[in-house]
Amino acid sequence: MTQRTIVVTGASAGVGRAVARAFGQRGDRVALLARGQAGLEGARADVEQLGGEALVLPTDVAEASQVEAAAAEAEQRFGPIDVWINSAMVSVFSPAQEIQAEEFERVTRVTYLGCVNGTLTALRSMTPRDHGAIVQVGSALAYRGIPLQSAYCGAKHAIQGFTESVRCELLHDQSQVKLSVVHLPAVNTPQFDWVKCRLPHKPQPVPPIYQPEVAAEAIVWAADHYRREWRVGASTAVVIAGNKLAPGLGDRYLASTGYGSQQYDGDVEPDRQDNLFAPQDDVHDHGARGEFSDRARTRSWQFWASKHRKVLSWTAAATGGALVAWSARGARQR
Ligand SMILES: NC(=O)c1ccc[n+]([C@@H]2O[C@H](COP(=O)([O-])OP(=O)(O)OC[C@H]3O[C@@H](n4cnc5c(N)ncnc54)[C@H](OP(=O)(O)O)[C@@H]3O)[C@@H](O)[C@H]2O)c1
Repeated sequence: MTQRTIVVTGASAGVGRAVARAFGQRGDRVALLARGQAGLEGARADVEQLGGEALVLPTDVAEASQVEAAAAEAEQRFGPIDVWINSAMVSVFSPAQEIQAEEFERVTRVTYLGCVNGTLTALRSMTPRDHGAIVQVGSALAYRGIPLQSAYCGAKHAIQGFTESVRCELLHDQSQVKLSVVHLPAVNTPQFDWVKCRLPHKPQPVPPIYQPEVAAEAIVWAADHYRREWRVGASTAVVIAGNKLAPGLGDRYLASTGYGSQQYDGDVEPDRQDNLFAPQDDVHDHGARGEFSDRARTRSWQFWASKHRKVLSWTAAATGGALVAWSARGARQR
């Protein structure tokens, strides 16, 4: 396979780290954007060990000028960008009324505007060459807001609206640059160890939980196989479809279950550190996975079916046709 230039934001940990590894395994040249030096160096070691080339670019994605400078450095070293993945995020787990204005602003600047900065920087590189793929790392929460994550859900919804607008513009211009979103289920990442948290108990991803490698496989697939949106995990598909059908029922269901399902055993440590304004992986590398491996799934059958939906539909149609023909023949013989 030809070696490509890939940019991954949020590459030092969690989903972005698993994505960087997956591209490294394909021998690609991967530019790694995040803030924490130890996490970035860990990602560099992973990519190089797996056979790819890596470039560490400490960047705060909330700052457009830093994102542009990182892209310029990546292109100077590796050549024109083929694929850009927007994975960086921060959040605050808290009732909305307790979130400070500067915290809402920071989540929005990193999670939403970080994605805008990444997308516009990628487009400036890709549209003149009429080539490239941008993948937004989305979430079921881009469609369905849940309690205790209002700042993050707002940012994820905003990414959805922004991406649809830009995709229309690309189609209007008959551009060959592809812009897609991969909506993820709950993923076992370090996010839950370092997210800013005002909950009484330790935060957790809402089960079912998947390993970040499942997300990475889908994101790498999406970069190669264009579809406007991919959904990973049956829970993601059900949440998105269910919210279209009965959003009011969703409100009530989440009001009664959403507090308990986002917390698990043990109290939040009083001295808990968070990564909202400064990285927590500057000194210690946290890697891709969080602490929920014993509960995390290593495969999504729903995504497998989604990847192969054409073959599965043809097989279902052919089987249905054969059954109809067989029963009609049986009826004639009787
Ligand atoms: N985990 C889940 O349950 C889940 C579910 C659905 C969707 N997702 C999506 O998956 C993506 C990754 O989430 P995750 O769970 O992997 O989060 P994570 O474990 O907290 O990792 C977040 C990454 O973003 C980086 N980052 C944070 N602030 C940054 C900034 N200002 N500039 C540059 N990089 C920054 C972090 O590195 P530094 O701190 O070193 O900068 C880290 O590499 C997000 O888009 C999220 O919406 C996650």
